[in-house]
Amino acid sequence: MNNGIGVGAKQGADSNQQSPFLSKIGEILENALDELKAARDLSGLENRFKFFCGKKGKLTEILHLIYSLSPEEKKNIGSKANEVKKQIKVFYQNKKNELLEAGKIGLPKKHKLDLTVPGAYIEKFHKHPITAVLEEAVDFFSSMGFEIAEGPEIETTYYNFDALNIPSNHPARDVWDTFYLLNGLVPRTHTSSVQVRTMEKKSPPFRVIAPGRCYRYEAVDATHLFMFNQMEGLFVDKNVRLTDLKGILEETVKYLLGAKKTRFRPAFYPFVEPGLDLDIECVFCGGRGCGICKNTGWIEVIPCGMVHPNVFKYAKIDPNEYRGFAFGMGFDRIVMLKYNINDLRFLYQGNLDVLSQF
Ligand code: DAH
Repeated sequence: MNNGIGVGAKQGADSNQQSPFLSKIGEILENALDELKAARDLSGLENRFKFFCGKKGKLTEILHLIYSLSPEEKKNIGSKANEVKKQIKVFYQNKKNELLEAGKIGLPKKHKLDLTVPGAYIEKFHKHPITAVLEEAVDFFSSMGFEIAEGPEIETTYYNFDALNIPSNHPARDVWDTFYLLNGLVPRTHTSSVQVRTMEKKSPPFRVIAPGRCYRYEAVDATHLFMFNQMEGLFVDKNVRLTDLKGILEETVKYLLGAKKTRFRPAFYPFVEPGLDLDIECVFCGGRGCGICKNTGWIEVIPCGMVHPNVFKYAKIDPNEYRGFAFGMGFDRIVMLKYNINDLRFLYQGNLDVLSQF
């Protein structure tokens, strides 16, 4: 039998010559380390280890072949084989730990690209509908030169009522019935409270919008909440006319709600004269009449009017020199109309089943 290493031949006659068994063992060590190193997964590693060190592995094979050698040579080769086996084992163990660790942190075991595996789903965030529409409105008004004005949510009765021509004995105060704090302040009932504050700070001409939260004493239902959003607008200049109000607000409802038909009706608000309500044709029934527009075919969207001279007087602006128009839209209502939402509470419940639809 010729196995390439002289099996059966008497070895050791010349002790200077390296035994072919020893060089074979060296070769096995080298190959084993290379192979183990290249293993990409645990079962591959296991198979390779067995191939070299298993019961029927390459090293054992050598030990079976040295039966004919002298006892001294057998001992020599045997101990070399054991030493190599230990080395391979240590290497195997380290590699195994490495693969286990990689498995734990989810590193790819094989550098293979499987194009059929579905991608990881990354949920996209989006803005809350109120924020989204608010940003649209802010863009729209700033394109016409409006700036953003602010006022406090906890307001004095002076700015919330008196300075808006609603004296304390006037029945109109009932319309804006609210909570009163023990120190006499009120959570503002409308963003109109920002009007006189702004007029005190800025000298005309100016154009501002003031979006923000308002509060009222309301029983909560599909169309009322004790907290809601409004957006006030105020335009003061020397020659501001009702036609300016009309033009700007008609454009606003076209832009925000895609309104086609609009109408203005007279209305009473103590801080404007004349006062008006801007209606749009019902977006739900196209004007035919439905439950939402209470069969009128129209939906009220923006109360507005020309700034009352008394309000100018409170703000120390001469009503003979300046004029202005103001409006205050229920912002939540705009959002509901835009997205066809039939219950105001959906906007504030933080329910993702609802919110993720927009
Ligand atoms: N502040 C009023 C409300 O909350 C709405 C309003 C009406 C605002 C007419 C205005 C306006 O600026 O001119 O009911």
